[in-house]
Amino acid sequence: MSDNFQKYGRTYSFHIGGVKKGIATVDPAVIQHILQKNNRNYRKSNIQTGVLKKYVGGGLLTSEGAYWLKQRRLIQPGFHHDRLKELVNLMNPEIDHYFQELSLDSSVDISATTHTLAFNIIAKALFSTSIGAEDMRLLSENLNILQEFIIQQVRQPYKLPWFKISGLMRHHDKLAQQTKGIILNLIRQRVASGVPQNDLLQMLLDARYEDTGKGMTEQQLLDESMILFVAGHETSANALAWIFYLLSRHPDSLEKITSEIEHVLAGQTPTFTDLTQLSYTRQVIEEALRIYPPAWVIDRVALEEDEVAGLILPKGALMIIYVYGTHHDPDLWEAPEAFNPERFSPENKLAQTPFAYFPFGGGPRLCIGNNFAMMEMQLVLVHFLQKFQITAPAKSVEIRPMVTLRPKKPIHLKLIKR
Ligand code: HEM
Repeated sequence: MSDNFQKYGRTYSFHIGGVKKGIATVDPAVIQHILQKNNRNYRKSNIQTGVLKKYVGGGLLTSEGAYWLKQRRLIQPGFHHDRLKELVNLMNPEIDHYFQELSLDSSVDISATTHTLAFNIIAKALFSTSIGAEDMRLLSENLNILQEFIIQQVRQPYKLPWFKISGLMRHHDKLAQQTKGIILNLIRQRVASGVPQNDLLQMLLDARYEDTGKGMTEQQLLDESMILFVAGHETSANALAWIFYLLSRHPDSLEKITSEIEHVLAGQTPTFTDLTQLSYTRQVIEEALRIYPPAWVIDRVALEEDEVAGLILPKGALMIIYVYGTHHDPDLWEAPEAFNPERFSPENKLAQTPFAYFPFGGGPRLCIGNNFAMMEMQLVLVHFLQKFQITAPAKSVEIRPMVTLRPKKPIHLKLIKR
């Protein structure tokens, strides 16, 4: 895609299977129009609202229209600052424990490490009362297998008859059922216990629709918990792996972030308020999300013909918003391939073009977990850098664009305990 933009310019059209029209863009003005200014003319494509929905259910990420808006209004308050503050108390011990137990052989596979950690964190944030080890293993394994199968279906739709005949479809349907069964049990146990907790599940259980004053049904609770589980770890895990990769290769930044953490916290466990003082840490995360945006592409379908910046966007066209391309556009970013957290200093941020930077999407469907994720990544960085020293740069690694932007090979880091 990056090559195509160099050849054809910031917005180009293409045909899918010779019939359907697709339009790919890296142009911030076009992107802002689609995601924000005229968002009502666009819906998500079948990838999220069809294939993904089939396996993980109809929660916020995979629903559309009036139902989505109703759910978004209901769930949004659960991600406000005062609720996030409570979640710090759940996350801190989880991260601390994880790094205490981390065994340092000759090196650590940091991508695998951040995946397990982000999975544990979202599990804790959702269901603070511990999930049994076997259920954790099954959840993690099943979600990985299902993700691979979803990608196969999107990339090779012509294999669908084969998936049905071979029994692969049935096998994966069963895995999805088993996964939902585990989550449903956790919900039922909580309701039966009658003991409230300070976690995301409690937020979902307590939420009431404004018009009826009623809460969600069991099916809705299941759908929304599943979606938060799925949307809430793969993205953060990849972001964290890339952050550690970049830090290992930029000793100046590593030193600066380490001394900021030491200066603000002096070895203490971070509180929610401390995080607001870790401004350079935040800039590092923001710059890493620019270079390696985990959600590297966002898709929409035009409901009616539309016009923006002199372009006609036909009815039914598939819009491919190439986040990675915008974040690497030399017209928007000086030396775009260089890692430079100064780009996100308060003054420099003010000068940014709207929608030149949008790792969490934009408009009404902006990621609901953006503040949660920023907080989580800051906490992980603090705990990690308080405990370990990175002693050598990681080897250069290429990107592997799957549902999220993964590293092509494991990232090995050499560490010593502080
Ligand atoms: C670095 C981490 C993350 C990144 C880069 C990220 C990115 C995104 C993006 C780009 C979207 C919009 C997709 C679209 O418009 O089609 C989105 C939506 C969403 N994200 Fe995140 N996300 C992250 C972490 C999280 C976390 C931690 C949670 C939950 C705890 C979460 C939950 C969701 C949900 C539920 C939606 C759908 C919102 C809606 O449509 O109303 N995300 N995310």
